[in-house]
Amino acid sequence: MERVFFLLGKGGVGKTTSAAGLALTLADKGKTVFWASIDPAHNLWDALGMEPASGVRHIAEHLWAQEVDLDRYLQRILKETTQRMKSFYRHLQIVNLEGILDVIRYSPGMEESAVLYALRDILERHSDKDYIVVDTPPTGLTLKILSLPFSILLWIEQLRKWRRRILDRRGIVASVMGRDALGKDVAVKVQEDSIYRELDRQESQARYMADLLRNGEIVRNILVLNQDRLSLMESKRIKAFLDRLGLPLNMILLNRVGLVDEVEADILEAFPSIPLKRLPNIGPSPDLKGLRSLGSLWAEEVA
Ligand SMILES: Nc1ncnc2c1ncn2[C@@H]1O[C@H](COP(=O)(O)OP(=O)(O)O)[C@@H](O)[C@H]1O
Ligand SMILES: [Mg+2]
Repeated sequence: MERVFFLLGKGGVGKTTSAAGLALTLADKGKTVFWASIDPAHNLWDALGMEPASGVRHIAEHLWAQEVDLDRYLQRILKETTQRMKSFYRHLQIVNLEGILDVIRYSPGMEESAVLYALRDILERHSDKDYIVVDTPPTGLTLKILSLPFSILLWIEQLRKWRRRILDRRGIVASVMGRDALGKDVAVKVQEDSIYRELDRQESQARYMADLLRNGEIVRNILVLNQDRLSLMESKRIKAFLDRLGLPLNMILLNRVGLVDEVEADILEAFPSIPLKRLPNIGPSPDLKGLRSLGSLWAEEVA
């Protein structure tokens, strides 16, 4: 895997269209490309003028695409969480797992977790491809997904401290009352604690994503916007977010140039020193030829 491209921007500005152009152009150059949509409101096949289909599809020479089934990933998280909770708390008989699962299923953050899980899985499964192009959901959800690995790392640091305190207290009880007083499944040392191991596991997954997202050699973040004030305002928020997390911003695509031009000067001012490409409006429902012509205006430069 040489590169991972994320297309970011407000809904309707042309992320999917640009992702299609990028994927087609790079595949035409002989690189193997996997194009994944992690937008719950999939429209990857619409953009290509194809009938909807599930699973991985071969689109053109060197190019595969998939609308990722996020619900399946959510089910997978829930199933794995139940299995792990059952094993962690097997010494407790009173845990109502079904009740806990319902709480987890409808908890804030579950959608983001499912998308992040899906993203990690896609990156691992298709690491044999040269390029992976990710078509993202609307800004709010995308930013939560991208920040999730970093917030998980902060949480784990705290949880580790609390867990160590619990184990310390258990150690005190064990030294006063004897090890057997705690029950044989109750861990006292870090090395024997399954919860601590789980924190290690979660940490390594989050770190993999955090390191990847910050890897300026591999990741290319591309911001798509139109010449209107709302898309500019949202783009500025995205840029500020990327800066805050230390994530790169590699290119600005000013898409559908010529429709209306409210803010050109402000756009130039907002993103100094980031390469900017102007993509023309090419008429309704761009076909494969149109998508390729748009992609060829910028794809190689950012790759
Ligand atoms: N350069 C362009 N020329 C003509 N139509 C375009 C162009 N870019 C996007 N569109 C059209 O605009 C609409 C929204 O584009 P889309 O790529 O789906 O946006 P997003 O993925 O950001 O929501 C689609 O109908 C698409 O065909
Ligand atoms: Mg889209």
